[in-house]
Amino acid sequence: MTTAAQTYEQKGVILHVENLSVSYGDRTIIRDINITEKDTVRASRQQGQIIAFLGRSGRGKSTLFRALTGLEKPTTGRVLIPDLSKPVENGQQPAKQVHEGDVGFVNQKYTLFRHKTVYETLLFALRKTTLSKQEKDEKIMHYLKDWGLETCKDQYPNFLSGGQRQRTAILEQLLSSGHYMVLDEPFSGLDIGNIVSVKKAFQLINESHELNTIMFSTHDIELAIELADSVYILGYKQEENGQLGSVATVLKHFDLKQMGIAWQDSFTAQHLDCVKMVKDIMLKS
Ligand SMILES: Nc1ncnc2c1ncn2[C@@H]1O[C@H](COP(=O)(O)OP(=O)(O)O)[C@@H](O)[C@H]1O
Ligand SMILES: [Mg+2]
Repeated sequence: MTTAAQTYEQKGVILHVENLSVSYGDRTIIRDINITEKDTVRASRQQGQIIAFLGRSGRGKSTLFRALTGLEKPTTGRVLIPDLSKPVENGQQPAKQVHEGDVGFVNQKYTLFRHKTVYETLLFALRKTTLSKQEKDEKIMHYLKDWGLETCKDQYPNFLSGGQRQRTAILEQLLSSGHYMVLDEPFSGLDIGNIVSVKKAFQLINESHELNTIMFSTHDIELAIELADSVYILGYKQEENGQLGSVATVLKHFDLKQMGIAWQDSFTAQHLDCVKMVKDIMLKS
């Protein structure tokens, strides 16, 4: 890719996490989390956002995700997303606090309804929309075709391959929740074929709407750097006495767009440098 293809603009804020902390009982898990992500706009293409969260086990990735989806109430701070039901004011979409259901959540197990076929699952996902029966059908069939799921439209989860299951679960969340989706360790435990299949699904989501925003966690640093345009590292800070803290926060943010290494077709030496920086930070966290 040439550098011209890397040209982009940053428009309205699509995610604003403000001084967020979450505690369970009297134990604080994450603290002082501040994240601002903007709508990335590139010429003559739809460009969504892919944000990766890295961090060692127990550093609060899943806890943060539950707060981002509205499943967990923050102890302090808040999570804001654009309120698309309101008109734009002074060039900015008014914001609202996230509520359960605003952000799709895909867990590691790709849980599906046992007694619904792929088609029925997707139809159910569209139940809150104002689309007519025919529009729903057209939308579902369009996605099934795009995502290579046409042939298993009438199958139940037990008869799906791992890859088909993952794509159905991701599609279900995409259709029911709109533009935002959180996936907690979507690549762990997958074989190479299924990893490719989920990567493809990410790309399809990313290219199909300007506002589509995928947030995912992973232990695979290379994969995070390859797929995301923005990467956050969660971890414990080193305290002044050299000891490791016990409440996680964002230790570092890599904006891969700014670094010129987002949306590349191949993994370059610059990506490798970034992987090395991430590893150094994580080892001390
Ligand atoms: N519901 C809960 N109640 C109490 N402690 C919890 C709960 N969920 C997670 N924790 C604790 O919070 C910490 C962070 O967990 P988690 O968010 O799952 O981290 P990660 O996803 O990065 O591995 C861990 O110490 C975990 O034991
Ligand atoms: Mg987790």
